[in-house]
Amino acid sequence: MSSGRFITLEGGEGAGKSTQLRALAAALRVRGMEVVETREPGGSEGAEAIRALLLTGGADRWSPYAEALLFAAARADHIEKTIRPALERGAWVLSDRFLDSSRAYQGQGVLSDADILTLHRIGSAGFLPDRTLLLTLPEEEATDRAKARDGDVSDRIGGRANDFHRAVADAFARFAREESERVRAVDASGPAEVVTVRLLETIEDLLP
Ligand code: TMP
Repeated sequence: MSSGRFITLEGGEGAGKSTQLRALAAALRVRGMEVVETREPGGSEGAEAIRALLLTGGADRWSPYAEALLFAAARADHIEKTIRPALERGAWVLSDRFLDSSRAYQGQGVLSDADILTLHRIGSAGFLPDRTLLLTLPEEEATDRAKARDGDVSDRIGGRANDFHRAVADAFARFAREESERVRAVDASGPAEVVTVRLLETIEDLLP
């Protein structure tokens, strides 16, 4: 595509992705780079509208199939309207969540990992990040952080049972093991500034 790079931050609820995304973007801007900060679900007008459909309402608002298709549709729009144009002009794009979230959250029930990847191939030509930073935290610490952020009000998916979130964490860990070139696990415990340094070290080889 160009000198632009596409970096995604992944992990369970409360791992500190949003805070770290802002810090990482600031650190890259100091180096004179153009950085676009974005998120999923969302990141374009259409995808933000789909986000509202996905994250509000009752637990049974969508079947697992409809839910996975909506995430894939939001992602297709996000890539076409926001990510690709930015990369084409040479900007770096940092996204708070991307495809691996769909694989971890939607790919552990009636849909397999292969199904989620098929939806992504159809919707977005299988487009992948240059690097994915997986923020890892012990379960208890992540739950405490998510509670401090959301109180008792979590979204339609974040509010699912602990077992579900444990399976999500296991799936992410598997991606880091099986796709170790792209997906790198980074310890997200300790002071935020220290975590940012760890993240920067993990993309050092991609920096101009
Ligand atoms: P957020 O809390 O990081 O804003 O993400 C919103 C919720 O959406 C979170 O519980 C994870 C979930 N999610 C999926 O289930 N599949 C996806 O593909 C994405 C991007 C998010």
